[in-house]
Amino acid sequence: MSQKNQTLGEFIIENQASFKYTSGELSRLINSIRLAAKVVNHEVNKAGLVDIIGAAGETNIQGEDQQKLDVYANDKFIQTLTNRNIVCGIASEEEDDFISINSQDENNNNKYVVLIDPLDGSSNIDVNVSVGTIFSVFRRVTPVGTPVTIEDFLQKGNQQVAAGYVVYGTSTMLVYTTGAGVNGFTLNPAIGTFYLSHPNMQFPENGKIYSVNEGNYIHFPQGIKNYIKYCQMEEGDRPYTSRYIGSLVSDFHRNMIKGGIYLYPKSSKDSNGKLRLLYECNPMAFLAEQANGKASDGFNRILDIQPEELHQRVPFICGSRNMVEKAEEFMRMAQ
Ligand code: AHG
Ligand code: MN
Ligand code: MN
Repeated sequence: MSQKNQTLGEFIIENQASFKYTSGELSRLINSIRLAAKVVNHEVNKAGLVDIIGAAGETNIQGEDQQKLDVYANDKFIQTLTNRNIVCGIASEEEDDFISINSQDENNNNKYVVLIDPLDGSSNIDVNVSVGTIFSVFRRVTPVGTPVTIEDFLQKGNQQVAAGYVVYGTSTMLVYTTGAGVNGFTLNPAIGTFYLSHPNMQFPENGKIYSVNEGNYIHFPQGIKNYIKYCQMEEGDRPYTSRYIGSLVSDFHRNMIKGGIYLYPKSSKDSNGKLRLLYECNPMAFLAEQANGKASDGFNRILDIQPEELHQRVPFICGSRNMVEKAEEFMRMAQ
């Protein structure tokens, strides 16, 4: 029986049997993420002390400056998943193309691919504000034992078998789902163990927080502008409170606990918004739905979108169910 203060290791073993494909492979995968998260956590925690803050001098395929910690976290997660020979493919925000693992090895019978945002909210690193890691897991669709192809990665979010995030915050937490609810584990840094601190996490159906980069207001679609004005109106339980950290992981985490909505809409500058479907929106949408919340692009369920490319962007509205539905209503009315 899951109970508070159970360790993540114990929880994984106990819940392995309830997962519909029980091979232990997914458990080993979550274990590897746990290990990489601890290593990255250690580096993030001493960020002010060592030469790890600042730009790495490279840009990723999306033209964004890579921070040293982006590169570090990317390397650590890829190394851990590769060395332990657990997955057959990895796609990352920081890699132009997907990585095929042991594609030459006929004995590679691994079935899972991982998509990852190794360090989310990198613009917050230099100022000691929470950052995170986001991951999404699928079963491959091409035959086991052959090299992975792009098809294995361009699956709809509703095919995810696991997803989660690590938030490197005032405490470090690993929050994940394998499709049977959402559980949160807090790292005890003194002994390096994650403990179940937040069993069965749920978004409150209603909330009073809205999270959006309002500096872009002028560029937002009319439906979003109207919804923001609705949030600010004096009526019933409104006006809502505005909270925006600028790290999706942290904004999502707060809203799941307190009740709220996160919006990164399209704008007249970016026709698909900013967030990436495969390693930001899909995993967060899976978590949201597993926690009784909702995730939408304004009109459609995020998890039903057919991805066309690895680094595809999509407008993202996510959080407490009734709030997301209200925002969708404003989008429809402004059509
Ligand atoms: P990343 O650091 O992985 O590129 O992601 C940053 C994302 C997301 O975490 C955050 O919510 C959003 O960018 C913030 O964007 P703005 O600065 O445009 O508000
Ligand atoms: Mn990100
Ligand atoms: Mn990132």
